[in-house]
Amino acid sequence: MKLLLTLLATAVINIIPEPAQIQVHNGFLKKSRTDRVQCTIDHDAGIAPEGYTLSVTRKGVKIVASDNAGIFYAKQTLAQLVQPDGSIPCVEIKDWPRFAYRGFHVDPCRHFMPVEEVKKHIDILASYKINRMHWHLTEDQGWRIEIKKYPKLTEVAAWRTEFDGSVYGGYYTQEEIKDVVAYAAERFITIVPEIEMPGHAISAIRAYPWLSCTGEEVKTFYTWGTPDISLCPGKESTFEFLDDVIAEVVQLFPSEYIHIGGDECRKNRWEHCPLCQARIKELGLVSDEKGTAEEKLQSYAVGRMEGILAKYGRKLIGWDEILEGGLTPGATVMSWRGEKGGIKAAEDGHDVIMTPGTDGMYFDHFQGDPKVEPHTIGHYTTLEKVYAYDPVPEVLKKIGKAHHVQGVQANTWSEYIYSDSQRDYMMYPRAFALAEIAWTQPARKNWESFRKRVDAACQKLDERGVTYHIPIPEQPGNSCDNLAFTDKATLELKTTRPEKIVYTTDGSEPTAESAEYQKPLSFTESTVVKTASVTAYGKVGPVRTIHINRMAPLPVVPENEWFSGIKARRTDGKFLSIDDLQGREWREVDGMSRLRDLVTLEPYDRNLPDSTRFYAAEAECCFIVKQTGVYRFSSDSDAVYIDGKLIIDNSHEQVKRYSRYDHELVLEAGVHKAKAVFIFNVKGGWNNLRNKTDIMMLRPGDPEWHSLKAIEL
Ligand code: ACM
Ligand code: ZN
Repeated sequence: MKLLLTLLATAVINIIPEPAQIQVHNGFLKKSRTDRVQCTIDHDAGIAPEGYTLSVTRKGVKIVASDNAGIFYAKQTLAQLVQPDGSIPCVEIKDWPRFAYRGFHVDPCRHFMPVEEVKKHIDILASYKINRMHWHLTEDQGWRIEIKKYPKLTEVAAWRTEFDGSVYGGYYTQEEIKDVVAYAAERFITIVPEIEMPGHAISAIRAYPWLSCTGEEVKTFYTWGTPDISLCPGKESTFEFLDDVIAEVVQLFPSEYIHIGGDECRKNRWEHCPLCQARIKELGLVSDEKGTAEEKLQSYAVGRMEGILAKYGRKLIGWDEILEGGLTPGATVMSWRGEKGGIKAAEDGHDVIMTPGTDGMYFDHFQGDPKVEPHTIGHYTTLEKVYAYDPVPEVLKKIGKAHHVQGVQANTWSEYIYSDSQRDYMMYPRAFALAEIAWTQPARKNWESFRKRVDAACQKLDERGVTYHIPIPEQPGNSCDNLAFTDKATLELKTTRPEKIVYTTDGSEPTAESAEYQKPLSFTESTVVKTASVTAYGKVGPVRTIHINRMAPLPVVPENEWFSGIKARRTDGKFLSIDDLQGREWREVDGMSRLRDLVTLEPYDRNLPDSTRFYAAEAECCFIVKQTGVYRFSSDSDAVYIDGKLIIDNSHEQVKRYSRYDHELVLEAGVHKAKAVFIFNVKGGWNNLRNKTDIMMLRPGDPEWHSLKAIEL
């Protein structure tokens, strides 16, 4: 009877990435026999590099591959075939990768990533047949690799002083790097190290100021974005430094390719540097339709790097800016600003790795409504968008250059990743979609099938205690956690991909068994709704709390309190939140006509010199609403008060961007008062002098937000 049940049971097949060919046969290999695995390396069996055949019968498992990587990948597939009872379904699989380069990228520079975290992702992603890790090791905000010849890179450049005076940083010793490289190699992952030049190098310049054009003292950057100071390509000593660094890098990393960065280099200092200009003259570089003389100077610097790498038997890879001013002959291009750079490079016969942010390859983007998701750098990249990406552009197929697309990579930049679990949340499950587009033949891709297989992969993450994104219920349009109504309210919910939604209205935390959301909910009394998605395997995602407030309209302001225009005041100093503003001495600011001018009381300077004057300012005005009704307010300023009531407080957030505190009120027709508070500071690396401090208002039934306007009497 037991045997019969086993025979009749249907196998659950959840392989990521989907293999090229799979036939499922009747029957299972019993758990007791699953150690019968025979592996053969056969160079003459016509099996592609990294490919394999995997045959599971009732007797045992046979794996054939042409290399050790193929054996390793067959074993990963085998592990994913294991059923809950430990048996393995009988299958015949023939499999090989679509791309030779299947990469993920991590950025330990903006926020550090301990060795154990690096290994964790290597271990997870190797099991999904990812074979490259691009390790972004140097940045404006921190240098992370020990270089013995330049000890200040780790003593000084690895650390930055944040706005609040705390010191942040870290680095990998050469011993740690060797250990990680070996760990990755055991899992058939090659680590491609990135040493950034000539931009994104402020941390190195802090340690060794002679690397810049002016030699001035600088700080390791503590905000995101790009400073104006770059390495000086006019000086030979810059290239001697880079050569020395690369000499140690190649001892640590066996990778054929070394990434030299090359992106987002500001060249304005070069225009005024006698040495840079002398080099431009000596090389006969002129500005023309192909680029400016300074762009060509960058191209020269990249060419020098290619020479240095060639000396050590290595090849150059860089971001697509290395195309500007002419591409070095042997370079491989990583196309990040869309596919344009990659297409151009491939047309010219260069190899290319596709990693376009616009097409889903940036895992630092939002995965749902910014009003409910944790802070990110912006943009919008759902799991489905990642999955939909095809790294080979049609135009390259048409002209026979598709073979230059060597592979695909997704990047997880860490500006807004403040913890290890946040990194996990951003990477998974999107990295599973990356694994499939990197390995699986396009004809075998199938979103509906993938969506189900992702659940199995996520359950494996649960076993390891790794966080991942589960959609948070959103409202159509913009989500809002503070809704208001007078008689009756409705709440509509959805998710970025189909998942069951549950909710409670009694203040309790939702569970998988809570009421299931089926249709818009109606309310006649003030209610706190707690809602979450529940996956097909019963896991409850992050809980969202929505306050639905029944309220009488806030009365208008008495006429004797009305005033024209904007009343503004400021106080100078470093403040973290509105709590720090209690008891401050304020002075009036004249002539402010718009709330958005709160950010203009000091000039914006990306370099944040020591002379920067930090301040807080607030602006008050009266405004009119024409009809009694529900008004929604939104602002990226630190705080918003309507009729004296604090409704938005962004000032306690870790980073003040993309406010998640939109708030509805019911207002009586007539004149009301608003106040916006702005604190110029840097929290979580964000210089919020770039914020918009308007108070935006959404009127009843109106699809468009309006900026709140002061009355003129
Ligand atoms: C990049 O995102 N700056 C390569
Ligand atoms: Zn210079």
